[in-house]
Amino acid sequence: MLYTTSVVFCLLWISAIVRATGSPFPFTAAQTACKLLNETLPNLVSFPGSQQFDADISHYRIESAQNATCSIEPVTPNDVSNIVKGGGHAYNVGFSSTLGVQISMAKFNNIHFDASTNTVTLGTGLIWDEVYAQLDPLGVTVAGGRVMGVGNGGPSLGGGYSWKTNQVGLTIDTIVSHDIVLPSGEMTHVTSKSNPDLFFALRGGLNNFGIVTAITYIAQPQTEIFGANIIYNQNISDVTKALETFHLTNTDPKAQLIATYASVATQAGSFIVSVNLFYDAPNPPPGTFDAFLKIPSMSNDTKTSTFSGYIARTSTDPGIGPIRQAIHVVPVVKYTVPILEEVVAQVTRIGNTLSAQFNGSIVIVTFSAEPFTDPFAHSRGGAYPHPPSRQVTPAQTLVAIQESAGAAAEPVILQAVKNLSRNVQARAIKEGQSKLNDLLYPNYALSDTPLELMYGSNVARLRSIAKRMDPQDVMGLTGGFKFQ
Ligand SMILES: Cc1cc2nc3c(=O)[nH]c(=O)nc-3n(C[C@H](O)[C@H](O)[C@H](O)COP(=O)(O)OP(=O)(O)OC[C@H]3O[C@@H](n4cnc5c(N)ncnc54)[C@H](O)[C@@H]3O)c2cc1C
Ligand SMILES: *[C@@H]1O[C@H](CO)[C@@H](O)[C@H](O)[C@H]1NC(C)=O
Ligand SMILES: *[C@@H]1O[C@H](CO)[C@@H](O)[C@H](O)[C@H]1NC(C)=O
Ligand SMILES: *[C@@H]1O[C@H](CO)[C@@H](O)[C@H](O)[C@H]1NC(C)=O
Ligand SMILES: *[C@@H]1O[C@H](CO)[C@@H](O)[C@H](O)[C@H]1NC(C)=O
Ligand SMILES: *[C@@H]1O[C@H](CO)[C@@H](O)[C@H](O)[C@H]1NC(C)=O
Ligand SMILES: *[C@@H]1O[C@H](CO)[C@@H](O)[C@H](O)[C@H]1NC(C)=O
Repeated sequence: MLYTTSVVFCLLWISAIVRATGSPFPFTAAQTACKLLNETLPNLVSFPGSQQFDADISHYRIESAQNATCSIEPVTPNDVSNIVKGGGHAYNVGFSSTLGVQISMAKFNNIHFDASTNTVTLGTGLIWDEVYAQLDPLGVTVAGGRVMGVGNGGPSLGGGYSWKTNQVGLTIDTIVSHDIVLPSGEMTHVTSKSNPDLFFALRGGLNNFGIVTAITYIAQPQTEIFGANIIYNQNISDVTKALETFHLTNTDPKAQLIATYASVATQAGSFIVSVNLFYDAPNPPPGTFDAFLKIPSMSNDTKTSTFSGYIARTSTDPGIGPIRQAIHVVPVVKYTVPILEEVVAQVTRIGNTLSAQFNGSIVIVTFSAEPFTDPFAHSRGGAYPHPPSRQVTPAQTLVAIQESAGAAAEPVILQAVKNLSRNVQARAIKEGQSKLNDLLYPNYALSDTPLELMYGSNVARLRSIAKRMDPQDVMGLTGGFKFQ
């Protein structure tokens, strides 16, 4: 799975030299940068062959595997500042490389609950499971990610759909401040008052404005919760009907669910729906999830537990070793039966096609419906537009193939996840539950998604903030969506 915890500086510099000569490695800027960093911060830099290096780069996805030239694990914001200052000047135009320096934020792992202000401050090197496990005994949490292994930096900087979203909004709606090392190397504490533009940009604008070292969130109360993971391999139309009814009628913000329609097959023919039910109290009121609980299932793990316990038992690795995958997103207002029937048809068709094409490798095709109730009702604005006037939920589409299928699978995966998304959205549009210009959640969107389709009318303001904060485009050295 794509379990990453670190900021990846992929120096994807395809310079004029490479284009002119066609040579992949005329000279590597990364080697120069790593040498300079090793001289200025000798104890923090690791090179291939060392255990530390392996640990730092181990989270790369197969399909984006660029072996870093070195990795660096800063310990203080000051170290980050030195890296940014040194780095920005070392990587000069004219050098080229597709290799890079990986900055691991693993040492930024502080968790601090301040009862007097009711806030939680988290270092950005943490993953959600560590956060929840430490906060549970204190009876608090933050509105963060729903799956183990995912870093808190990404969701918090991109938007953040949480098990608390119906109650308090997205993760970015609960952020009070950021500590950041700016592209200039300056360290600063950002609030809505101290720097309104940057505070706006950091709530959805991802890694374009500097390296965030800590984020302070409003603390949320957390008791034990009711949670279920139920897998259905038959009676799918009953599950679909229950899902539609839940989405059209649920008014209790403590009740949420994710339903994943999946084709998981070594060969054609295995279709399941995996439903995660969540109620933010030990017992849901009668009727809340009854429709789901009475359909016969293939496996059923339903119980009251700690919040962190629930996250742990619903974050299962498929256990099939390395995979290539692509995800994308379909904006949907309400998941009605005709849309979900289209989902079943598309997931089945694409799963069968790819299983036949990559016979011998496991193929996974999924569509995860996230039927939130008024997710944007608590919007406090920010770079990722989520206005109460147009509330769409982000359905996640995914296509994954076991790495044994080889690199030939890469373009097929991309095409397939686009087809799946496009075909389901076409049906949702026909049903009046989506629009072609509905915005896509940046943390799920494929890398070639136009900025306007994620950030809408905020693009111009984000471009101008990026230009002002980062005139030398230091953050252009990092991967991801770019505003300049
Ligand atoms: C299994 C799984 C479950 C998920 N569940 C959810 C969910 O419940 N809700 C949700 O909203 N999303 C979810 N996502 C999507 C998730 O938000 C994105 O994949 C996210 O980008 C992952 O963040 P990361 O920090 O783990 O990854 P990374 O690849 O490390 O970071 C993602 C992006 O953020 C940048 N970034 C990270 N840390 C920093 C930092 N300190 N300073 C500056 N930039 C930084 C990186 O450079 C990169 O551009 C899930 C993804 C997966 C794979
Ligand atoms: C990094 O610096 C140390 C000492 O500061 C040196 O021994 C080592 O050889 C350097 N590593 C590389 C790969 O340059
Ligand atoms: C990265 O290094 C590993 C082991 O050193 C090697 O097996 C792999 O092929 C390399 N990957 C790339 C993309 O060069
Ligand atoms: C579930 O499916 C089985 C077998 O297809 C069928 O006998 C049963 O009536 C269905 N149950 C419900 C609740 O629809
Ligand atoms: C799942 O387990 C719960 C708790 O034991 C039970 O109430 C429910 O009926 C079961 N549902 C299914 C679909 O097996
Ligand atoms: C995969 O290949 C095997 C034999 O090579 C064949 O029997 C099987 O039908 C194939 N499966 C699919 C889905 O094409
Ligand atoms: C995806 O769509 C393209 C173009 O419509 C088509 O050629 C291709 O076969 C489709 N692939 C899958 C897996 O559906």
